[in-house]
Amino acid sequence: MPRRLLLALALVPGAMPGAALAEDTAGDIVARGAYLARIMDCTGCHSGRTRDGVPDPMQYLTGGTIGFELPGLGIFWPPNLTPDPTGLGGWTDREIAAAIRTGVRPDGRMLAPIMPWESYAALTDADAAALVAYLRTLPHAQNAVPGPMPPGGCAAAPFFRIVLPE
Ligand code: HEC
Repeated sequence: MPRRLLLALALVPGAMPGAALAEDTAGDIVARGAYLARIMDCTGCHSGRTRDGVPDPMQYLTGGTIGFELPGLGIFWPPNLTPDPTGLGGWTDREIAAAIRTGVRPDGRMLAPIMPWESYAALTDADAAALVAYLRTLPHAQNAVPGPMPPGGCAAAPFFRIVLPE
């Protein structure tokens, strides 16, 4: 290849074969994470709903409006998963992957088992990393869900309750 052409290639960002490859790989990882988030139904719990209970695309993964009561454990609202400080903004990639696969939060608290981390424990390292990479691309949304309520506490927002037959 003539020297002048080589120099021109080196000066055009993205024209270097290496750079193009790196971009494609990052895009592929995020696309894989989006696919996993879809089939693992993060949105079924972690997205907001309109007043009539329909999932609201404007509140995608910004925190669930409806909590889950687990008898004996309390009521748990699915938190905001966007990169905002009220979501996963202050968490490292490793902390997010650990919560998803082991149920352990950075403060050491175990997540209630309604968050299906026991099933997600089977995620490969590559898929856990892809899921985290995808969550990092979500638009920031400021929304702190109510904290977990101890059993018998006063619920701050709607929740699902299991009612046993008489
Ligand atoms: C069946 C409902 C449900 C599904 C599906 C679900 N989650 Fe959760 N998730 C929860 C609930 C409820 C909590 C809060 C539990 C607690 O506080 O103990 C939670 C907690 C989390 C946390 C910890 C956040 C924090 O601030 O403590 C992360 C991270 C998380 N989920 C990620 C995900 C991802 C990613 C997916 C999809 C791959 C997903 N969840 C699918 C219900 C769900």
